[in-house]
Amino acid sequence: MDKKGMTRRDYLYLMGAGATALATSTVNVGCAGTKERTAKEQPAEPNPAEVTDRARRMQWWHAAKFGMFVHWGLYSGLGRHEWAIDIEGIPVAEYERLAKQFVPKPNAARAWARLAKQAGQKYMVMTTKHLEGFCLFNTKYTNYCAPKQACGRDLVREFVEAARKEGLGVGFYYCLWDEHHPDGTRCAQDEVARKRFVEYTHGQIRELCTNYGKIDVLWYDAPWPLDAKGWESEKMNKMVFELQPDIIVNNRNDLPGDFSTPEQEIVAEKGGRAWESCMTMNDSWGYHKADDAWKSPKTIVRNLITCAKGGGNYLLNIGPKADGSIPEESVRILTAVGKWMEKNGPTIYQAEPFQGGWHTYANYTRKGNTLYVHVHFWPGSTVTVAGLRTKVKSARLFATGQPVDFKQEEFRVQFTGLPERAPDELATVIEVECDGEPVQDMEWVRRERPRRAVDVTL
Ligand code: GLC
Repeated sequence: MDKKGMTRRDYLYLMGAGATALATSTVNVGCAGTKERTAKEQPAEPNPAEVTDRARRMQWWHAAKFGMFVHWGLYSGLGRHEWAIDIEGIPVAEYERLAKQFVPKPNAARAWARLAKQAGQKYMVMTTKHLEGFCLFNTKYTNYCAPKQACGRDLVREFVEAARKEGLGVGFYYCLWDEHHPDGTRCAQDEVARKRFVEYTHGQIRELCTNYGKIDVLWYDAPWPLDAKGWESEKMNKMVFELQPDIIVNNRNDLPGDFSTPEQEIVAEKGGRAWESCMTMNDSWGYHKADDAWKSPKTIVRNLITCAKGGGNYLLNIGPKADGSIPEESVRILTAVGKWMEKNGPTIYQAEPFQGGWHTYANYTRKGNTLYVHVHFWPGSTVTVAGLRTKVKSARLFATGQPVDFKQEEFRVQFTGLPERAPDELATVIEVECDGEPVQDMEWVRRERPRRAVDVTL
């Protein structure tokens, strides 16, 4: 069914409302190998010049691996998720009153940037406008923006300065869908409204790409209710690249862009296409005061490992309160993740994709001939990995450098003499030097491992 033929409900479902609801059943929290998309979902091959330019623009991002997503807006004052305006059918005039109360403490973003840096995150992506239509930046196209309302400040500028101060990449999230602008819905039926709304949208994106210096990521979202043709997305991207030749853009203006954006799940792209899994720490993007479905630091670390194993990035969300303070749970979780990254960061940042399978108490990343075995459920003094077709030369605990004894048989390697209790509660990393690029083949084990004769009567 094409988008125009969809019901609004179908589309909302596809655009993520449903994906969020489904998250708990579809999310792959790192216990299995990274899932992969099927070939038919891959975008068409770009030309060689585009491939080279993209590789150049994306180099820092591939090395970054871990970013902070920030959902912040008037909805943060309601504290019931950024979809409140839609889900609760709040009258626009009533919703607008929130702009009179939204006066965050100055430079709240500095604490976010410090936390991101400490957590090992290398870039930040903040909502400049969500579906509520309120702009956190200064725009000549509407008065419905922070500098012209009670806040009286350009919150995007504060964010940009804070991120740069910590040496982090700067990303702008911009929601095409708009529940406030009068043309936001009728643009689908009325050509004059569409033209006006496209001018508004492109004009704001131009402002974002002009007024804040070098921007590293443009993160479009929710192309409802138009398609790439309706949004004039080719022209949109062309303008963005003219203004910001080094920027990278995602795939949510209905064009493939530079990278894919699996949401609330970890799904690797095939054929080397870049991907970034975005995820909440509880079940909400925007601040939700009653949402207590927090993931543990261990789950976050496992997800980060799964992303790195599959060659992807992990964009992990915080939803600051209206005053800009970060929910305590998010601080606690990110601080714990940061401590783990301090010791084990290189096993993530330098990771190259590893083809191997899954394990019930460990996961893997790889760099060259080195395999990192990340053990999250510590089994005791012996850790066993099956199906490694590469010869192990040596092993040690990554965090301490302490050598680890091992015994390699045809179908398994056993790392022995380890402590009974997990050296690192979140994940202990065993660094395994191999005599070539490690290859794991569980199919081979299942097929070739000799069976013993059993008493079969058939
Ligand atoms: C989902 C949410 C949306 C959020 C986005 C981030 O699509 O519905 O509000 O901004 O995820 O990826």
